[in-house]
Amino acid sequence: MKLLAPVAALLPFISLSQCLPSNAGSDTSGTTTATSALPSGTSMGVLNTLAQGIGKKYFGSATDNPEFTDSAYMAILESSEFGQITPGNSMKWDATEPEQNTFTFSGGDAVVAIANSTGKIVRGHNLVWQSQLPSWVSDSNFTADELTSVIQNHISNVVGTNYIIGYAWDVVNEPFNSDGTFVSDVFYNTLGSDFISIALNAAHAADPDAKLCINDYGIEGSGTKSTAMQNLVQTLKANSVPIDCIGFESHFILGEIPSDLQSNMEAFTALGVDVQITELDIRMELPETADLLDQQKSDYETVIAACAAVSGCVGMTVWDFTDKYSWVPSTFSGYGAACPYDSNLVKKPAFDGIVAGLS
Ligand code: XIL
Repeated sequence: MKLLAPVAALLPFISLSQCLPSNAGSDTSGTTTATSALPSGTSMGVLNTLAQGIGKKYFGSATDNPEFTDSAYMAILESSEFGQITPGNSMKWDATEPEQNTFTFSGGDAVVAIANSTGKIVRGHNLVWQSQLPSWVSDSNFTADELTSVIQNHISNVVGTNYIIGYAWDVVNEPFNSDGTFVSDVFYNTLGSDFISIALNAAHAADPDAKLCINDYGIEGSGTKSTAMQNLVQTLKANSVPIDCIGFESHFILGEIPSDLQSNMEAFTALGVDVQITELDIRMELPETADLLDQQKSDYETVIAACAAVSGCVGMTVWDFTDKYSWVPSTFSGYGAACPYDSNLVKKPAFDGIVAGLS
């Protein structure tokens, strides 16, 4: 079941999908692009098709509302390259319920409208997270019962009455510290780890068809944090709490892809949950060089091939497809160039790495 966007909401986007930029998919700037190395006839719109061809549900990208005025960007986002989109920010708590019981859905509606008009699925992101959380939640000293109601009300409104998106939600985002303990935030400090089952049960009640995920970083390779997440999955399943999928964020550093990525995915799927690569980017220390871009190509291939090899790894999403709108440079000082298209929207060797991983 999909939310059908009002026709008026679709209109601003329809004109943007009518033509492709003249340079889209073509190699116009030498070594930073490698489109010419692609098999002939596969220069545009291949990623989702290749992913589905090997049994995956989608290949997708994050996107964000301020980007929707960039027609060259939109032509690629809306093309068949991507079968799925994730709102980078507009479904988060601070965007959807900035004041208690005052809901704003326009940003998320615009993302859903693009998905509906271009035949893509949406991963809802996210419902309960200590970051981008309004202070009325974090600083109100709610009792356990009050905070439970606040979580349930947020989720039933955001999921239940608005974004019935028909695919998956990141219900809980980043619950663990790197040592496997729970993040000390208002949710954990007030409710203990029960906040996780409260949120998952509320999401299931609001949209019984949605795949419900917990999403985190630093769980992609085996280790303390991955083990903590696996233990959580087992506990939730033992208590009949609805949990369908684990998101491997996959914000990697060049040359540091976990060597046991595939076997760690398999450890999760063996527990009866799907894995999704939810926020893939591979950052390098700037300035970029041809060698670094080549290493990045290889790293992208490694990550995508690991998912390709695991039947329970159902899809993969890059955390925006272009360096033009990547969150990396403003978050990790000195790093960037993390995406498969450069800041001129030209494909990088990393794009071919993805193709190779899907082939
Ligand atoms: C990031 C967005 O990309 C930025 O625009 C925003 O300023 C901060 O959040 N893990 C997540 C995402 O789950 O929601 C984060 O997105 C990146 C890290």
